[in-house]
Amino acid sequence: MCGIVGILGSKPVATDLVDALRRLEYRGYDSAGIATVENGHLERRRAEGKLRNLESRLLSEPLTGRTGIGHTRWATHGRPTERNAHPHMSAKVSVVHNGIIENFRELKAELTAKGHSFETDTDTEAVVHLVSDELDQGRRPIDAVRAALGKLKGAFALGIIFAGEDDLMIAARQGSPLAIGHGRGEMYLGSDAIALAPFTDAITYLEEGDWAVMRRSGVEVFDRAGECVTRPLVKSVASSLLVDKGNHRHFMAKEIHEQPDVISHTLSNYLDMANARVAFPDLGVDLAKISRVTISACGTAYYAGLVGKYWIERYARLPVEIDVASEARYREAPLPDSGLALFVSQSGETADTLATLRYARANGQRIASIVNVRTSTIARESDAVLPTLAGPEIGVASTKAFTCQLAALACLAIALGKARGVISEAQEQELVTALVEVPRLISSMLHNEEQFVELAQALSKARDVLYLGRGSSYPIALEGALKLKEISYIHAEGYAAGELKHGPIALIDENVPVIVVAPEDDLLEKTVSNVQEVAARGGQIILISNANPEKIGCALAAHIVPPTAHPLTNPLIYAVPVQLLAYHTAVFMGTDVDQPRNLAKSVTVE
Ligand code: M6R
Repeated sequence: MCGIVGILGSKPVATDLVDALRRLEYRGYDSAGIATVENGHLERRRAEGKLRNLESRLLSEPLTGRTGIGHTRWATHGRPTERNAHPHMSAKVSVVHNGIIENFRELKAELTAKGHSFETDTDTEAVVHLVSDELDQGRRPIDAVRAALGKLKGAFALGIIFAGEDDLMIAARQGSPLAIGHGRGEMYLGSDAIALAPFTDAITYLEEGDWAVMRRSGVEVFDRAGECVTRPLVKSVASSLLVDKGNHRHFMAKEIHEQPDVISHTLSNYLDMANARVAFPDLGVDLAKISRVTISACGTAYYAGLVGKYWIERYARLPVEIDVASEARYREAPLPDSGLALFVSQSGETADTLATLRYARANGQRIASIVNVRTSTIARESDAVLPTLAGPEIGVASTKAFTCQLAALACLAIALGKARGVISEAQEQELVTALVEVPRLISSMLHNEEQFVELAQALSKARDVLYLGRGSSYPIALEGALKLKEISYIHAEGYAAGELKHGPIALIDENVPVIVVAPEDDLLEKTVSNVQEVAARGGQIILISNANPEKIGCALAAHIVPPTAHPLTNPLIYAVPVQLLAYHTAVFMGTDVDQPRNLAKSVTVE
């Protein structure tokens, strides 16, 4: 997490640094800061909280240097105060950092013993003193950084500038992404190409272990062994991805409403809609010969993967293992011969997902990823990429990326089922036709949003909310609970409906709303029994179901009726009401919907 940026400019860079940081705020917004080389010495401005606080600070205390670095923080070590805000610096060097320096305690002890005095609670400050220490010993900046990098453990992306060096910036990448932008007589550094989009579309991505010496005239890249290496210059499409809220109050609202379009784009990438067939890209592997699919992902992407498990097992009769990547990476699970390891990630940069991918590769798996950012590290390290065409997702709470992940997974399940001879041509046609209907069905729900506004007012009074679902609706219950808690801060939990009586039922009383995701399918009757158990204990039932309430047989506090759809597509359809419920509850409560507290969009720390 954290966003970093750097500019070797031909004019003062403070405004452009802030502009670039604005596009990186999705990576964290606990504090922000910039540092520049001002007439040979280093100066910085920092502020706690959102970027606008830094902007106000710069109005009263401007910086005029042409060489500068900037940072927007998601706090890992040390509270989100101005004192802990980046850039960190000594008289000789200033550093911005994304990631975690794992051996910072040892380094701090060593450097303190040598007389360095630390001012912050951050791990990053160790880098500042380490480089300063090398400079104190008479090393030149490039040699000082080279020596310091050899002593750092952990995952990091670094941007470093030096006092007395107006035409030098050093960048280093180990575990966290970094893009270098080439301008005319200017050079740029950013956590991603979107941050640099207003300045240049000519990008070089650093690879693992790379570090780079940047000057206005160009960049030299070195690999982990210190060898000078050539990395390709690519044309970024990021400039076309810069977005605004349109007529919506929040990015999240806009992104919820974009779903019919972006699901349709994603489906068209995997389906021959005219002939109702799957037209799946070549994964470089015979789909009929895959012995097992192992899915890993985090958060919302994990819930998409969980729906994928239900689908692949049901429609392709292929065993699927799934785990959250933060567990999968440490389990050292044995992986099968001829296995396909599938990673799901909006950003394509999630640290735990990436680490699991590398474990799977080392254990002989074919690697496929469903990602929204095609230039991301996960995409670049995969054998096959299944893109979601959701466009940039700015709201921290994932919505359209989730349903696009589901769209890609549904197509994969059908492709596997077909390749394995489990589904006939007629069934393939039926399933593809059902998928093609999804954008229209979601549109119809989005035209009927008023009911969610009313319901949200009631929900906003709850302290705890339970979500229940069964079968492929279970992951939607989990996702509904995650959405509500992350943007409204109301405690919410999702449970498999059948698990209720094994513990959670003890929580139920007349103050606990229970949101039941229960499309009319072959599992409805079973879920109805669980609903009755809740009703018998006075729970307030909010039913999301196309079933006739008579089939439920008990009083409902509210009933949301999504359109009737094919059982395959119900998770896509039912994702939308749980998103809208969370969104309107958060709006009613006045929280920061697009940038909820403590969170960041891209989680690049483990
Ligand atoms: O970029 P990724 O899809 O890998 O991110 C995974 C999770 O961090 C993400 O889905 C997170 O749970 C969302 N904030 C949920 O809305």
